[in-house]
Amino acid sequence: MLSSVLKAAALALAVTPASAIWPIPKTISTGNSTLFIDQTVAVTYNGKPVRKFHPDSHFLYQVAKDSIYAQLTYAVGYTPPPGPNFKSSDIVQGGVERAFSAIFQDGLVPWMLRERGSDFEPKQRDDTKRIAKLTITQTEEDDESTFKPVAGSLDESYSLKVGLDGEATLKAASSTGVLRGLETFSQLFYKHSSGLTFYTQHAPYDIEDEPLYPHRGILMDVSRHWFPLEDIKRQIDGLAMNKMNVLHLHITDTQSWPLEVPSLPKLTEKGAYAPHLTFSPADIQDLYEYGVHRGVQVIMEIDMPGHVGIDQAYPGLTVAFNKQPYQWYCAQPPCGSFKLNNTDVEDFLDTLLDDILARISPYTAYFHTGGDEYKANNSLIDPALETNDVQILQPMLQRFLTHVHDKVVEHGLTPFVWEEMVLEWNATVPEGAVIQSWLGEGAVKELAENGHKVVDSSYNFYYLDCGRGQWLDFPNGKSWQTFYPFTDWCQPTKSWRLIYSHDPRDGVADEAKKNVIGGECPVWAETIDPATLDGLVWPRAGVAGEVWWSGNVDAQGNNRTHYEVRPRLSEQRERMLTRGVKGSVITQQWCDMNKPEDCGHMEQ
Ligand SMILES: *[C@@H]1O[C@H](CO)[C@@H](O)[C@H](O)[C@H]1NC(C)=O
Ligand SMILES: *[C@@H]1O[C@H](CO)[C@@H](O)[C@H](O)[C@H]1NC(C)=O
Ligand SMILES: *[C@@H]1O[C@H](CO)[C@@H](O)[C@H](O)[C@H]1NC(C)=O
Ligand SMILES: *[C@@H]1O[C@H](CO)[C@@H](O)[C@H](O)[C@H]1NC(C)=O
Ligand SMILES: *[C@@H]1O[C@H](CO)[C@@H](O)[C@H](O)[C@H]1NC(C)=O
Repeated sequence: MLSSVLKAAALALAVTPASAIWPIPKTISTGNSTLFIDQTVAVTYNGKPVRKFHPDSHFLYQVAKDSIYAQLTYAVGYTPPPGPNFKSSDIVQGGVERAFSAIFQDGLVPWMLRERGSDFEPKQRDDTKRIAKLTITQTEEDDESTFKPVAGSLDESYSLKVGLDGEATLKAASSTGVLRGLETFSQLFYKHSSGLTFYTQHAPYDIEDEPLYPHRGILMDVSRHWFPLEDIKRQIDGLAMNKMNVLHLHITDTQSWPLEVPSLPKLTEKGAYAPHLTFSPADIQDLYEYGVHRGVQVIMEIDMPGHVGIDQAYPGLTVAFNKQPYQWYCAQPPCGSFKLNNTDVEDFLDTLLDDILARISPYTAYFHTGGDEYKANNSLIDPALETNDVQILQPMLQRFLTHVHDKVVEHGLTPFVWEEMVLEWNATVPEGAVIQSWLGEGAVKELAENGHKVVDSSYNFYYLDCGRGQWLDFPNGKSWQTFYPFTDWCQPTKSWRLIYSHDPRDGVADEAKKNVIGGECPVWAETIDPATLDGLVWPRAGVAGEVWWSGNVDAQGNNRTHYEVRPRLSEQRERMLTRGVKGSVITQQWCDMNKPEDCGHMEQ
């Protein structure tokens, strides 16, 4: 018998949710039958077998004491050919390998999500009902834009059915939709504690799914701290596990310039924190391709005209580098910004952007030109300008921005800017440019209702680095008393519940809602490095991911309850742990093993 999603939600008050898929699908109906799956399942994509045996992969027999349960273990070794000429079949094959690896290699044994001492697993001897087939059908052909979509142009929807007859079918219009469906498929299964069988308990499944918002991402700051490629790739893995699709790389700032630009070698020679803390052109290509294969678009940002500290590499182009008191020129030390109205700067930007954009344009639709926190006082100490009068500076800032955006457009890319360029500096941006809003206070509404495409990164909800105390040192003296207890500027911590409460389209006029294309959770890295990255980002970014995929309101218009959401989030975190993404814990072990009501907070 099928029960509707609503019934399923009501039943989910038991410890075991009927389906703990994250993000929750748009519609799902489930049953209560157990089906097993093993490595022999036949997978086809548009009629052709998918799981071919590549020279670098092989079968292993894991022989158990009881040989009935001997399992075929597939050693995943599929490396897709390098892009940018992506083939849908390569994308799908990679997705299938990862889904199978998630089920069979990583496999979640959910004891920590079940009642203590309970008999929550199916009997291994019952494993006669098996999933024999996974039939994947892509109903439309991918084109170049599938792999570097402009927000809204790509159909990520899919439908997934798992029948009691052991046949699973996955249908999607695009290969990206197939990837989303495979992620859902992988989330249906658990590993038996014996390690020998794999099962799902709520078959049959009938799922129809698609995202609410086309743009769902995180921002990684790799300038305040540098991160190895494998850490960045692991965030792409995490994004894909949460059906998110954007990795915004804030790749340069005044603190360090890790991006190697072959035509301007001094940028990293003088600007990287250390000679080995850079990203080479091959690294960048690798990262963009890794993203494409997982349905995650990388969007690079070179922040300007503020946040630029290249004075030691190429002197004469910037002002205020490391100038004090920093508060007069920027938001945090060290300061630095490009000179306005300066032809040398424009020539430099042409060289810089031609070099970078030619290499990334095969992989992405966007390039982010920054534009946050530019202070007029920078031009007061520019000997050619000596003014901080915004009326005088506005046309010069516009000239700067137009120069940069013309370059971006010339390379076939759509510009992205921070909100201050438009809301504070009244700058004009090219048609279709995306404005990233972070200051909250109705900015998203204002921008969207003025016809701009907007991405919401409100610091009140989405800044994952916030609320952990001030990192700047306080001098001796009264500042100690003044600033006690040393909070940061954007407290409180954005807990998963606070993140979940926010939908970017809230309060926006109906006709302008479509202009709000999604959101990004920024992970500013002043106090985050490779040792602490995953726990800071996950599972909270995925919480925003669920709201951007499914909304925070159910089909009847009610806010989803913490009793319904929290157990699924606990499970998603556990699942991500098995797959190598080490998110922070969100509740005590006891609550995960008992009914949410038993962990409920008393009404005041
Ligand atoms: C499965 O659900 C049906 C209909 O709700 C019910 O009659 C049946 O007893 C259930 N089976 C099990 C094993 O729970
Ligand atoms: C700009 O710099 C002057 C000193 O030249 C300083 O007095 C003023 O406070 C600064 N303005 C801002 C907004 O920081
Ligand atoms: C801005 O630059 C132009 C040349 O590019 C120059 O003619 C003009 O005088 C400059 N404006 C100021 C205020 O320096
Ligand atoms: C932008 O426009 C607003 C409203 O017209 C005005 O108050 C502000 O001074 C302008 N800012 C600049 C930099 O021109
Ligand atoms: C639903 O959540 C919103 C905040 O996102 C809140 O303003 C509203 O009061 C909630 N509705 C109910 C019925 O609790």
